[in-house]
Amino acid sequence: MLTLGIESSCDETAMAVVRDGELLAQVMASQAELHALFGGVVPEIASREHYRILQPLLDQVLKKADVGLEQVESIAVSRGPGLLGALLAGLSFAKGLCLGTGARLVGVDHLQAHLLAAGLEQELVFPALGVLISGGHTHLYHMRSALDLELLGKTLDDAAGEAYDKVARMLGVPYPGGKRIDELAADAEADVKLFPRPYLDNQNLDFSFSGLKTAVGAYLHGVNAKGLYTNPDRKVELTEQELGVICASFNFSVADTLRIKTERALKRTPGVKSLIVAGGVAANSKIRSVMTQLASAKKLKLSLPSLGLCTDNGAMVAYAGELFAKAGFSHTMALDAVPRGKKVPFDYVSQPSQQGSMGEF
Ligand code: KG4
Ligand code: ZN
Repeated sequence: MLTLGIESSCDETAMAVVRDGELLAQVMASQAELHALFGGVVPEIASREHYRILQPLLDQVLKKADVGLEQVESIAVSRGPGLLGALLAGLSFAKGLCLGTGARLVGVDHLQAHLLAAGLEQELVFPALGVLISGGHTHLYHMRSALDLELLGKTLDDAAGEAYDKVARMLGVPYPGGKRIDELAADAEADVKLFPRPYLDNQNLDFSFSGLKTAVGAYLHGVNAKGLYTNPDRKVELTEQELGVICASFNFSVADTLRIKTERALKRTPGVKSLIVAGGVAANSKIRSVMTQLASAKKLKLSLPSLGLCTDNGAMVAYAGELFAKAGFSHTMALDAVPRGKKVPFDYVSQPSQQGSMGEF
């Protein structure tokens, strides 16, 4: 099966072509520089940029994959959760292509696509515990199969990536700051007592990172009595060394909090064979090493996408969409976008499966 994947849920327009689980080509246009001027994504600008770039990207990805549009059998599109206007740009484009070519339309849950991304590089083993850490979400899932996910816990406020980006802003590090914090932390030693590991004193599998962000703010306020950190346009007056220690300590607090709740979730999901860690924040070096150690201690297979597949991309959408298409699932033209904070419904239309039941995946 030949599948085109379209991603436009935030500030990246991305497309990919996958054939039977193998990535043939992918392209991406990032709007990060545009939004950096405002310190965060401006939804209206994001939608317009997606709309402008979708057609040229399609031409590019088909050329790179050396296929014609008429050969594409399934068109997978990220349908949320994300910025509504941004998603609608991708969705309308995908629907138009399907109407024009007769390809089948497959709406994909962006979060599920993240979790399955590593499947392009290695065999995913189920049942699995899924740890989805991105700019908008921090979710723990029991993944019975690639297509059957149960949400076990989620963030009650800021997502892990959001905390990285907000702390980066306090530190005067430009948007999107998660990657830069990771780099600044690389040569520094974490002070493990500097910041709390939030929301552990309970029995649940939820997260809360906003308190950690406040703790960093309070610490900076102490360092810099003038409170310059509150002004995003001005750098905090810190030495490179101090900045490194703050970043490494923040990294430690996030990674260790994720480790503790993941370990707790594993205790509640006996029989799980692998740990799947995904999303933009899964690119973080400290989190990668903590999760590698955890999987090894628990004798679980670890699936971590390579760095390029952690952050938003078209390949993961194409790959996940193809799994659904092969299991006989598709959408009608009524397919709707799902905004951030809303659960993506399982509203596929089931057609005779080409590859048996969902259980095979
Ligand atoms: O998955 P993603 O590309 O977009 C969403 O679906 O939200 O994740 C983007 C998030 C941003 O918050 C970014 O700062 C964070 O991933 N991120 C990182 C790293 N690379 C990207 N956070 C920590 N360390 C990194 N190396
Ligand atoms: Zn994402």
